[in-house]
This record gives sequence, C-alpha cells and structure tokens, in this order.
Amino acid sequence: MRDKIDVNLGDRSYTIHIGTDLLKSSGEFIYPILNRKKIAIVTDENVASLHLSKLKKCLMEMNIEVSVLILPAGESTKSWQYIEKTVEWLLSQHIERDDVIIAFGGGVIGDLVGFAASILRRGVRFVQIPTSLLAQVDSSVGGKTGINSSHGKNLIGAFYQPQMVLADISLLNTLTSRDFLAGYGEVMKYGLLGDYDFFVWLEENALEMANGDVEKRIYAVKRSCEMKANIVAQDEKEKGQRALLNLGHTFCHALETATGLSDRLLHGEGVGIGCALAFETSMRLGLCSQEAPSRVRAHLKKMGMKVSLSDIPGSLPNPEDLISLMKQDKKAVDGKISFIMARDIGKAFILPQIDLDLVKNAVSYTHLTLPTNREV
Ligand code: GLY
Repeated sequence: MRDKIDVNLGDRSYTIHIGTDLLKSSGEFIYPILNRKKIAIVTDENVASLHLSKLKKCLMEMNIEVSVLILPAGESTKSWQYIEKTVEWLLSQHIERDDVIIAFGGGVIGDLVGFAASILRRGVRFVQIPTSLLAQVDSSVGGKTGINSSHGKNLIGAFYQPQMVLADISLLNTLTSRDFLAGYGEVMKYGLLGDYDFFVWLEENALEMANGDVEKRIYAVKRSCEMKANIVAQDEKEKGQRALLNLGHTFCHALETATGLSDRLLHGEGVGIGCALAFETSMRLGLCSQEAPSRVRAHLKKMGMKVSLSDIPGSLPNPEDLISLMKQDKKAVDGKISFIMARDIGKAFILPQIDLDLVKNAVSYTHLTLPTNREV
C-alpha cells in the first residue's frame, strides 16, 4: 500500500512517499538522486538498534558506500554540541556538496540533520526518513530545521527543504503507545485547524488507527501531510498562513520549557493540551461555542492522552509565570505574541493581539482538575 503527496515549492519541490515497507525499497527511491554512490546516514541509538541494518542492507545492495553516525536519542541532542559533532563528522567522511545525507529518526534527528545539511558546505541535499508518527506528519515536512538554545526550543535554525521524504508506516509498529499518541497530537491538530471532516473521521477512526489499523494509519498520515504541504506551498517561510500550523504550540512551548524539555511532557502531548487550551481561550473570547473545547477534551480523553495541565506530573509554574514563558515565543514581535485561535473546529485563524488575562484564565481553569459537572 503506497501513496504520495507533492510539496510544490518550485525548484525546491519534493515528494512525500507514504506506505508500508518503504525502507525495503529505500535504495530504489534514493539511488536516482545520487551523483555518486556514496551516502551518509545520521540516526540515533534507538532507531539504529531497531532499523539501521535494514536501511544499510538496502543501500549497500545497490553498491552505495554507506557511512553512519549514531547519536544519543533525546531532545538534548538538538544542541550546539551535536550539530558540531555531526558537521565535523560529515566533513571527516568527505561528504561533498553534491552528496546526499539521510536523516533517519524522529523529530530530533530530522531537525538536527536538516540544519547540518543546510550549513555544511553552504548546503548539501538531504532525505528525511522519519521513524516516529510526529516526524512523519509534521517535522519531516516543510523544511523547518534547527536546534534548541538555553533561551528556548528551536531558536537556532534555517528553512531548508529535503529532497524527498520516505514515511514508512511499518516503522510506527515499534513505537511505544505513548510515543505514538504524542505524534497523534499533531495529527489531531490538522483537523482542528482546517478540516472539520477530518476531525470527525478521527473521532470515529483514531482509536483503531492507534491500535494498528494500517489503512487508517496511511490515510491519517496522508491527510496530515497533504494539509501541511498545501500550507507550506503557500507560505514556506511563515510570513502568514503557515502560522496556523502552530495551533496549540505557544501553550505547548511554555509547558515544555516549564517541564525542562523532559520526559514529563512529550512535545505532541503538549500540542494536545495546547490545542485544548487554544479552544478554551477561543471560547472565553466569545469566538466559538462551549461545545468546541469540550469536544477537543473529550477526544483527547478518549484517546487516553493528557487533556489538561493537571495531567502533567510534578509541579508547574503558576499561570502568571506560564504567560511570561509564552512571551519568549520566537514569533513574538515587540514582546507581543500572536495566538492561533478558532471560530470552530476546523476554523483556526491568527489573532495578532490578545487579552493575556483571558489566556491566564483559560490556563488557570485547566491548572485545576476539571470539575465533573462540566463535560471533559
Ligand atoms: N511545525 C510547524 C511548521 O512546520 O510550520
């Protein structure tokens, strides 16, 4: 079962291939774009132990010389230390400007390797082979690359598009349920921001998809990539509409900073809570009905995901301090943050100015255990 989506960006256009067992055919996909039979793979320890031998075998069967760098798994790898290590290693392997690098892993590897590719010899081509649901539906598509700073997440980076994305659905089988569901936070986001029918489809089908239904997984990844590809094609550098993809993210980034980018909160879990907070705030602004945030929370709950701040283990800063963290958002202009709000499910828009007291009230509300007399 295979499908594909084109990302139309003129001379930077590329195809996202989606399907089962793509890794086994990776050589056939990649061989035609090589200028010489040499390739560098950068991956992490977890992905290497599960899937690296298959990828290497497939490339080597086509007589491609393969070198591999294996980095530690985890968000702390998205750092100056590991970008330096990666770039120096690529140079030591004599990777030239016409060669191709493979980013083989989840969002951390995709972002780090994409950034390394963008700065190595002023730009070397790279292929994304995303191994997590989050990377398949979001971070491997659209060309956002980068690393974290002590000042916040993703503050150092570049827009740099891959040559191709191979989203092999079979690789999702080795994800833990928590990691799969964290990626699902981004899938749900697409329905919430721009496709009511997709959200309804998810309400009806996402549990089966999470439980392993392959056709439903392919459809969910395809629809997510299609929506992202359309938005990116119109606004590659996020001058406007691409910001819609940040639905829930201002809340999420503040929560991630507050939890020290730790295992207490995975990015996609933060996106799920952030989407619920975005709809709660929209309702408090009189933009959408009370039904919308209730429906978002009900869906998160049904999926077994974190719904509100009270689901995050350990203590959190008070709402006032969370608002201060939001002001650190990299998209802040003159200290003011725009928020992605919604008029209904599937109808998100960019609100350039917001009453932060209302945001604080929404955050305070979900800081407490939600009352039983209001639908979750
Ligand atoms: N993850 C949001 C974007 O790619 O724009």
